[in-house]
Amino acid sequence: MKIVSIVGARPQFIKCAPVSRELRKEHEEVLVHTGQHYDHGMSEVFFEELRIPKPDYNLGIGSGTHGHQTGAMLGAIEDVLEKEEPDIVLVYGDTNSTLAGALAAAKLHIPVAHIEAGLRSFDRRMPEEVNRVLTDHASDLLFCPTETAVRNLAAEGVTEGVFLVGDVMCDAMNYNRAIAEERSRILEDVGLEPGGYLVVTVHRPSNTDSQENMAAILGALGEAGNPVVFPVHPRTRKCLGEHGLLAEMPENTIRAVEPLGYLDMIRLMAHAEKILTDSGGVQKEAYMLGVPCITLRENTEWVETVEAGWNVLVGAEREKIADAIHSFSPASRQEGLFGSGDASVRIREILTGLQGAPPG
Ligand code: UD1
Ligand code: UDP
Repeated sequence: MKIVSIVGARPQFIKCAPVSRELRKEHEEVLVHTGQHYDHGMSEVFFEELRIPKPDYNLGIGSGTHGHQTGAMLGAIEDVLEKEEPDIVLVYGDTNSTLAGALAAAKLHIPVAHIEAGLRSFDRRMPEEVNRVLTDHASDLLFCPTETAVRNLAAEGVTEGVFLVGDVMCDAMNYNRAIAEERSRILEDVGLEPGGYLVVTVHRPSNTDSQENMAAILGALGEAGNPVVFPVHPRTRKCLGEHGLLAEMPENTIRAVEPLGYLDMIRLMAHAEKILTDSGGVQKEAYMLGVPCITLRENTEWVETVEAGWNVLVGAEREKIADAIHSFSPASRQEGLFGSGDASVRIREILTGLQGAPPG
């Protein structure tokens, strides 16, 4: 089967690494990078570290408003699909690259497979939620990471082509956990011993675009009492500068560093006391690594982590964040919520089973 896989943003590179490795055992894959993320530390580092094949196309779309960015991708992806004539198009997650890929393919009557289908935060003000809903409804194969995702799709009337395969981020974690421990020097670089420090990531517009939210988050972190390592997403760095908050960051407690490669990130997270984040992927990884997670949002699409007692939603309220830093502690044992690390194998097998009779 000829598969065009579309990626463009940091979490998609991580997700595509195990899937691409599997697919290429039996299928022809053409990898398209939209160029949504383009800094070395947001893109190339993942291709190098995770040995992801070099993209066959880099569309170089770059940053822009939602409409301009998605529209530019749509046109450029359509050109690639017309030239390559794949049997199926594979998209990941919930970014503008995901939506553009799914839409371009659906309009050309090429079947779409969505990895990480069925996730819902039920918050339509999140750009990702719009992308998730539209992508799922344009997809023919929906690879769900959790039972909740399958139920969410059923509630919207989507039951055909739905497969519960587990989470490909679990595959990536299982494959790279020991490699990270062996190769990463991040703790030495930031001068920290395992334990006793916090890791924070923030990049959701609901936080970065609000001076009040960012001031509350930094305020709580400044008083945490433990050192905090803060790999700063480029969007966040830009917004902190605009809010006049970069200069005010208390350097002795908050160590703002450039975005990290995946191996450094998982070693850093694995030895943290707690993780604070508004990222989707980081909430899951905290759970997989058995580190308590404090989520700087009012809602989450990864509800299982909250129900299991390993994740708490605190929004961006300074007092709630400070309380959680000091007193949040998981109530239960951590178990395998996201599958057993064979989601990519199952995806390959399902696609192989469809050879000669692709969906659509
Ligand atoms: C995007 C996704 C989000 C995902 C995140 C992962 C959408 C709508 N959002 O958010 O779902 O969680 O990626 O990290 O698709 N920038 C750089 N260098 C880069 C990339 C971005 O400087 O390599 C800056 C630019 O100023 C850009 C801003 O970051 O305008 C935002 O980038 P964009 O890709 O639009 O959205 P993210 O916030 O990264
Ligand atoms: N990540 C990374 N370096 C960083 C921050 C995050 O490698 O500095 C990884 C993280 O471990 C996870 C993925 O990027 O695998 C999550 O991506 P992000 O938070 O950008 O997006 P989201 O998951 O919210 O869509």
